[in-house]
Amino acid sequence: MDPMNSGMRYTPKSSDKDWDQAVTFLPASDGSKLEKKKGPGKLGTIIGVVIAACALSLIIGLLVWHFHFRQGHKIKKLYTGSMHITNQEYLPAYEDNNSTEFQALAKEVEAQLKDMYSKSPQLSKYYVDSTVNAFSQGSVMAYYESEFHVPLSLESSINDLMSKSQRSSPGPSGALIFDTMETSAVDSRIFTKSSVQRFTARTRPNQAVLVKSPGFPDYPYPPNTLVQWQLRADPNNVIKLDFSTFYLENAQDCKNDFVKVYDSLAALESRMMAEKCGYYSPNDPLSFISSSNVMLVTLATNEKGEYPGFRAQATQVMKGSREVACGGLLTGTSGSFTSPNYPKYYPPLTNCEWTIEVPVNMNVKVIFSKFMLSKNEPNCPKDYVQVNGERLCGTLQANTVRTSNTNKMTVVFSSDSSLVDRGFDATYVAFEPTNPCPDKFQCSSKRCISLELRCDGWNDCGDNSDERNCKCDTSMISCKNGLCKPMFWKCDGVDDCGDRTDEMDCASCKPDEFVCGNGKCISMKQKCDGHNDCSDNSDEADCGRASIQCTVNNYVCKNGQCLSKVNPECDGVKDCTDGSDEDCGDCGKQPYKTSRIVGGQEATEGEWPWQVSLHIKNSIHVCGASIISDRWLVTAAHCVQEDPKFKLNQASSWEVYLGLHNQKQLEKAEKRLLKQIIAHPNYNEYTYDNDIALMELDQPVAFKESIRPICLPSATYSFPAGKEVWITGWGATREGGVGAQVLQKAAVRIINSTVCDTLMNGQLTSRMTCAGVLAGGVDACQGDSGGPLSSVGTGRMFLAGVVSWGDGCARRNKPGIYTNVPKFRAWIKEKTGV
Ligand code: ARG
Repeated sequence: MDPMNSGMRYTPKSSDKDWDQAVTFLPASDGSKLEKKKGPGKLGTIIGVVIAACALSLIIGLLVWHFHFRQGHKIKKLYTGSMHITNQEYLPAYEDNNSTEFQALAKEVEAQLKDMYSKSPQLSKYYVDSTVNAFSQGSVMAYYESEFHVPLSLESSINDLMSKSQRSSPGPSGALIFDTMETSAVDSRIFTKSSVQRFTARTRPNQAVLVKSPGFPDYPYPPNTLVQWQLRADPNNVIKLDFSTFYLENAQDCKNDFVKVYDSLAALESRMMAEKCGYYSPNDPLSFISSSNVMLVTLATNEKGEYPGFRAQATQVMKGSREVACGGLLTGTSGSFTSPNYPKYYPPLTNCEWTIEVPVNMNVKVIFSKFMLSKNEPNCPKDYVQVNGERLCGTLQANTVRTSNTNKMTVVFSSDSSLVDRGFDATYVAFEPTNPCPDKFQCSSKRCISLELRCDGWNDCGDNSDERNCKCDTSMISCKNGLCKPMFWKCDGVDDCGDRTDEMDCASCKPDEFVCGNGKCISMKQKCDGHNDCSDNSDEADCGRASIQCTVNNYVCKNGQCLSKVNPECDGVKDCTDGSDEDCGDCGKQPYKTSRIVGGQEATEGEWPWQVSLHIKNSIHVCGASIISDRWLVTAAHCVQEDPKFKLNQASSWEVYLGLHNQKQLEKAEKRLLKQIIAHPNYNEYTYDNDIALMELDQPVAFKESIRPICLPSATYSFPAGKEVWITGWGATREGGVGAQVLQKAAVRIINSTVCDTLMNGQLTSRMTCAGVLAGGVDACQGDSGGPLSSVGTGRMFLAGVVSWGDGCARRNKPGIYTNVPKFRAWIKEKTGV
């Protein structure tokens, strides 16, 4: 962040150049050129020339005037600052701006600022005045604003002067002695607001202060407004600010509406802890902690309000208490430690040092399971963690490992005065230098992974080192490049090996073998033997039995006939004698040829015509849904769960957008209100079991290219493991991130339920389907919920699942969990008739 960037509209530096160009350009249309074309005696031409000449001189005049005006024109610049006064005692009365004590000291500070600026030859001419806004302890910190009227052309040099000259000690020139001063230009987005509201609040022991945006939760926040909250705590305390709801307009660089949190009572850029906009889910809470007993929170909104806003609670925490303490001696053979306040944001200006000491003859290994330090520069001059003299900063891959060569290691954490992040979560273990990964495999990155993960086809190490030099067993494809991949990926149309070996010789089952739909070869004898030998049922399809005895796995036609064919519906072949398997309408047809979602890409407009965006009325997107008929949508039950604030279980709380592509172009979409919401009666809000709900539109929608239903799979429809499916949505594009503006899509694969249940620690039920990329990096995320998991059938897309939950987003070995739609086919029919 450039602290001096005032964001003013004009850049005077280049204006001279522009002017030169303008001057050279003008003669080209000069009247003298026009005169050459004179037709003798033609009065019209002469009048024309005169008019042109007049117009020309007028333009020149205007430009000259404009140039002079601009050059001499002064603009108002506000600087905010803090000053550390060392020879004054802090008085409690300084907290009250109306007290005589406050006013007396403020006057002195203002006089001294005036004196100081009047002595600066560059600044004195432009200085207007200063106003003290607040004082705080230590000895006394004064916070003020200084106004200057500066020529446009000097704006940036004055910005530089203001920041540089005053960082050093200005020296005593009056009764007050002050050492440090910090100044920055006030963000121009802030002082141009038409309405300004300022609040002050004080926390006490066990007494929290509520900070909420105007109107919250009953109305959206107002447009064009600046709100500031100056928060104070008792001396020797720090302030903790926890947002329980955070819902602002989301824009790139938060340029529209934003909240800024400062570790100061002045809006100093050098003390800005964070600038936030968009939506933060309660699973991913925003919480900040100051370095002293003051904090400033600002909310700025643009011409358009319309978002719910935020609610936060400020409490005080004793300095040095457990919540903010860090560092110390760690012994034993293993343990863990985190940055202060983890997983919430660490405080600025913090230094911690841990000394890890393990038994002699052992070495230390530290594993950072999470590591997020604010954006940084090479060599990590700002916030950093230092291990063995090496500085780490920014965001590191999960499970980054560092080891020592002795039985001791020191880990230092340091944060500077601005821009904080969530910090890190680390564990340490002692290891034998000769055996760094007992009973485990050591990745090149020094990480230890369980031996079963070696050569299993998944990049578990993150650097692929567990998949190199493998001897693949018979259940695996042996890629030429030495990798092993699961056999069910053979001949599936995806280059899993990376050298296409898994996609070669595909139709090459032996003559006495049957080629399964998934490329597997089985003995011809196993075809049509009543067993699902291919594991995708393809060996039991087309067995020459138009109708067979019904089992739970068979597709049942409208007339009761049972088919042996797998997934016979809407595949373009009439399998039922009554043709009911092809009774599909226009469902699942993508009008355009294919191809946030984390790790995805922008969809093309109209590519996913069944995708719906569910908005809280007059507010932002919160969930996805899928169109299944001209009046019914399918979404997740957790999207419409009862809640006190937004009443999401009530139809009247929602508005839905069909045919939407870009969240910024709602007017291009078809908007509907809801008649009713039917959540599944067995939805369990703790386990997310039966996470499905139906929404009835207030008025039916007419289908067109960009609005069309997705096909519903029958109860017997099979989505085999390894099958490629698509996720789409406007959700977050990274874990903890903000939602996407343009619809995102990503391809993932169905994952074997047994494998998935183990990965998800036994939390899977038969009403859930897993899909993802186990190597990590591609997944649905917050805000995608309720949206479709679309599976390509034969030419049409089927709703395989509804985005439901996950452990974080796109983490390795943590697939996304989707509601298993075939399980709810009968329920959907019962409730909607579809
Ligand atoms: N529950 C989330 C939502 O409300 C969706 C989670 C999906 N997560 C995942 N990692 N696949 O938007």
